[in-house]
Amino acid sequence: MSILVTGGTGYIGSHTCVELLNAGHEIVILDNLNNSHLEAVRRIERITGKKPVFIQGDIRDTQFIQKVLIDNKSTAVIHFAGLKAVGESCEQPLKYYDYNVNGTLCLLNAMQQAGVKTLVFSSSATVYGDPEKLPIQENSPLKATNPYGRSKLIVEEMLRDLYASDPNWHIAILRYFNPVGAHKSGLIGEDPKGIPNNLMPIVAQVAGGRREKLHIWGNDYPTPDGTGVRDYIHIVDLAIGHLKALEALDSAQCTAFNLGTGQGYSVMEVIHAFEHVSNKKITYEMAPRRSGDIAECYADPHLAKEQLGWEAKHGLREMCEDMWNWQVKNPQGYQ
Ligand code: NAD
Ligand code: UFG
Repeated sequence: MSILVTGGTGYIGSHTCVELLNAGHEIVILDNLNNSHLEAVRRIERITGKKPVFIQGDIRDTQFIQKVLIDNKSTAVIHFAGLKAVGESCEQPLKYYDYNVNGTLCLLNAMQQAGVKTLVFSSSATVYGDPEKLPIQENSPLKATNPYGRSKLIVEEMLRDLYASDPNWHIAILRYFNPVGAHKSGLIGEDPKGIPNNLMPIVAQVAGGRREKLHIWGNDYPTPDGTGVRDYIHIVDLAIGHLKALEALDSAQCTAFNLGTGQGYSVMEVIHAFEHVSNKKITYEMAPRRSGDIAECYADPHLAKEQLGWEAKHGLREMCEDMWNWQVKNPQGYQ
């Protein structure tokens, strides 16, 4: 009996693997190492004292995945594998539909053929587009504003159709807000390839001297200080959310849950918090708004609390502390 974790060497996957192993689950990590390092598997073992099975492979190979599921007597899948860069998705939409939509379709076919019908899927707050109302509830209108977001929305619809056709499926769709931070040990964390797009990794690299400055994309939003507001969530809280979702999937369902803190912070607040914990000056420059960005986005996390018994525990200070600890211990990431 094991849980298959696709994309388990990536940022969110590696932290979830640690929580699964610590909770006594057996896991099989499947990843093509397209955006991650094998070293993450060794680090997961160092943290937990347990050696996870690692299989290098691609979710788009249905027969191979079916064999992995059967050989390892898998009972459930936590599905992280996919691509996540919004800008790249606008430049190479077909690649995103291939990895994220076709990849998930192949995985679902393999699961159906292997008789494994329990799934936790990584969705994103991006499926809400520019929200009409804040905080965002799960029943808010869904709309994608770029190919990456559309790929998540298509998969969500696919999962709802699948459940409607066969109510033996147990599906949790987790809509993440903005995952940041790292494991307390500083052994695993986010290791973006090339120049990061997201705020927190750039801030950490500027503080660490790897990057000269941060551009703040817009200070004329209708927010208290004019900079964009987001719901940052500590990666360990997010990882535990997967464990809780899996535990709650003993009844047949297909339900979407927001995983966020419910608290929004502006870019300036993040910079100040990071300066405080790192004792470093974050050099920044104001720049025009980034195309496609929204002013404010934060979750109503009540449904996850009521139905999964989950809520985020870490605040912004700990998110910055743990991010900084990872940056200091791994200035060049896993390499
Ligand atoms: P990540 O890139 O660190 O991890 C994804 C992993 O999937 C990588 O290890 C990569 O090598 C692997 N992978 C990609 N394509 C694959 C394929 N075809 N077959 C097998 N493995 C493959 O990203 P992450 O931040 O850990 O994100 C995990 C999931 O969460 C993704 O689906 C992402 O879209 C979603 N998500 C992430 C965020 C975020 O801000 N990090 C926000 C919302 C949703
Ligand atoms: N920002 C800057 N400068 C930067 C990077 C970001 O000012 O160099 C600002 C953005 O304008 C925004 C905030 O910091 O106001 C957060 O930006 P991120 O890029 O870190 O995160 P986003 O909210 O834009 O997007 C993230 C993921 C998406 C996901 C979305 C919702 O990258 O994939 O959260 O979950 F869809």
